[in-house]
Amino acid sequence: MSSQTLYTAVNQGRNMTADQLHALLTEPDLAALQETAYRVKLREIGNVVSLRGLVEMSNICTKNCYYCGIRKGNTKVKRFQLTLEEILFAAREAMAFGYGSIVLQSGERNDPAFVDFIEQAVREIKKLSNSTLGITLSAGEQTLETYQRWKTAGAHRYLLRLETSNPDLYRKLHPADHDYQNRRNCLKLLRQCDYQVGSGVLIGVAGQTVEDLVQDLLFFREMDLDMIGMGPYLPHEDTPLTQQFPEVGTDSAKQLEWGLRMIAATRIFLRDVNIAATTALQALASDGREQGLQSGANVIMPNVTATAYRDGYRLYRNKPGTDENSAGSRKELQKSLAGIGEIPLLNQWGDSLHYARRNRN
Ligand code: 5AD
Ligand code: SF4
Repeated sequence: MSSQTLYTAVNQGRNMTADQLHALLTEPDLAALQETAYRVKLREIGNVVSLRGLVEMSNICTKNCYYCGIRKGNTKVKRFQLTLEEILFAAREAMAFGYGSIVLQSGERNDPAFVDFIEQAVREIKKLSNSTLGITLSAGEQTLETYQRWKTAGAHRYLLRLETSNPDLYRKLHPADHDYQNRRNCLKLLRQCDYQVGSGVLIGVAGQTVEDLVQDLLFFREMDLDMIGMGPYLPHEDTPLTQQFPEVGTDSAKQLEWGLRMIAATRIFLRDVNIAATTALQALASDGREQGLQSGANVIMPNVTATAYRDGYRLYRNKPGTDENSAGSRKELQKSLAGIGEIPLLNQWGDSLHYARRNRN
């Protein structure tokens, strides 16, 4: 009956029910699920991949998420903050490579110096690139005013993962002062500021069920997200979650499979949103990101952070690319994309088609 599940899912698209999503996610024929999602991606977007140069600006974080290697409580991490010059250097490199867009990612801080710094960095990148470079921010929960300032400075996309749509699970993965409702509300504030809004979840984390993942998919639809960035949970040795559940996340094949299942289901369900094939997939298999593309993803974020800082941004064990330089990452990527018949979109922002359509209607 598996082909019936896939047939129904493709026909229903955004109208799928929770039961249909459950059947889709647990489709016994994984290859058929991936192929179906890839066909939907070809129909909606074509055999093209959008690229964003990823700049890891700082690993200083005021939060203490139990799963994350750069949580505040991990005193083993050497903290860094790129200077404005270093950020501009990375932006220039991204432009030189033809990446039409960059993602500025950082641990979360809310102090005025941080807010000012990001605003200035965005402004300077706009100036430097003559506004040709698209700018996505990923710097956590902020106030409406901060989001607005950064938008006015020139950022147009924002990524804020909810991590899980299940409030009980959220409480188990975070200290008591990390507020699920506030995080959800931030996504609304971002929409209010007219960003293209992205979110996502951890996949295969301790305590999570398939039903939770179904609810995560429904949450993506409910928030009418433009972009999805999600990836398998990977244990980090110095985190409370790994200490509490040492076995969870250690079956690489299973973690990868569920990461791919979620990408494929999201593509079939939501059709025209941007979906990233994240680095966490690559940590599980050397061609993990390519498998992500072949399961319906259409965005890749090659790292353009100076190699010297890469190890400092280690969210989980075996994070790939921490010892190669940006040019090395780029060459490898070009080869591997050609190998799967995907064409990189050079010098383009690669905006979410879903965002354009929502604003047209
Ligand atoms: N495994 C996978 N992803 C992780 N992140 C943080 N820690 C881990 C981990 N151990 C992800 C979170 C966060 C993003 C920056 O990195 O989803 O939003
Ligand atoms: Fe900070 Fe993000 Fe890590 Fe949480 S997941 S500790 S907010 S960097």
